[in-house]
Amino acid sequence: MNQAKEYAETNAIQFRHVAELVDEFPKEFKKMKGRIIDIGCGPGNITRDVLLPNVDKDAVIVGADVCANMIEYAKQHYGVDDKLSYLQLDIQTPELPENLIEHFDNAVSFYALHWCKNTKQVLKNIYKLLRPGGKAIILTISHHMIYDMYPEQENDPRFAPYVKNSMKWAPPHQGCSDAEQIMKKDLIEAKFNVEYCTNKWETFKYPSFEAFMDLVMAVNPFVHLMPIDVQKEYRKDMEERLKSQCPVSKKDNTTDCRVSILTTIIQKPPISEEIDFNRHV
Ligand SMILES: C[S@@+](CC[C@H](N)C(=O)[O-])C[C@H]1O[C@@H](n2cnc3c(N)ncnc32)[C@H](O)[C@@H]1O
Repeated sequence: MNQAKEYAETNAIQFRHVAELVDEFPKEFKKMKGRIIDIGCGPGNITRDVLLPNVDKDAVIVGADVCANMIEYAKQHYGVDDKLSYLQLDIQTPELPENLIEHFDNAVSFYALHWCKNTKQVLKNIYKLLRPGGKAIILTISHHMIYDMYPEQENDPRFAPYVKNSMKWAPPHQGCSDAEQIMKKDLIEAKFNVEYCTNKWETFKYPSFEAFMDLVMAVNPFVHLMPIDVQKEYRKDMEERLKSQCPVSKKDNTTDCRVSILTTIIQKPPISEEIDFNRHV
């Protein structure tokens, strides 16, 4: 199955959590005007159905993703004439296209930046994308148990030919007890004003263990490289590992998974402050 479709069909929990983020910071979202970029927009359902209705009514959104399939899928299923378009972009690129520099009034990113190891480059690029005074709201995973399982599977001879460089996929803050402090330091170094930066453990409740597994497989970077018979064995292995860590309710089969989430709201300093700063140097 197309990975974009597969993810769009399984990201109900992300959908709900982004909606909860909007409920927590309704004014911050409503104040987002002009051109807004959604970095790592994926298949586009959250961009269209959660972000678009909650920002300024005249705002225009560009969904950006490194993955061509995601962008193609988002264009086909979640575009909105004159309001929402999609663009292929790697937010870790060392060479941000000139035409995107200071092109956006605001930026958001949901459940995407943990895929990027080079946080400093990512923050540098977000800074460049924004106009002075522009704000960004970022929600990213700082720790998830699945990333501890990949290195173990890399050493399993059944999966080793497909599960390679597994640490490349772990969030940059995986296993860090002070993710919040590290992130704050990186944000300040990148010259952002930090308005909010909090790391919290949350429980994601899935309607069933199967629904949880479907999502785990949809975001798995290796399974699509495997022949069908190995895919089945791999899913079974993942099921066994997760069953031992994620409680499944005997009553209704709902499944809990603990995930650590980093939420930040930042601002690129307005130009006046930068001019003042330069004057005093
Ligand atoms: C788990 S999906 C999240 C999609 C959507 N924001 C949501 O909340 O459902 C993560 C997305 O980040 C994208 N991504 C990963 N690395 C990226 C990068 N370097 N630049 C832009 N997008 C990236 C992936 O292609 C994927 O579509």
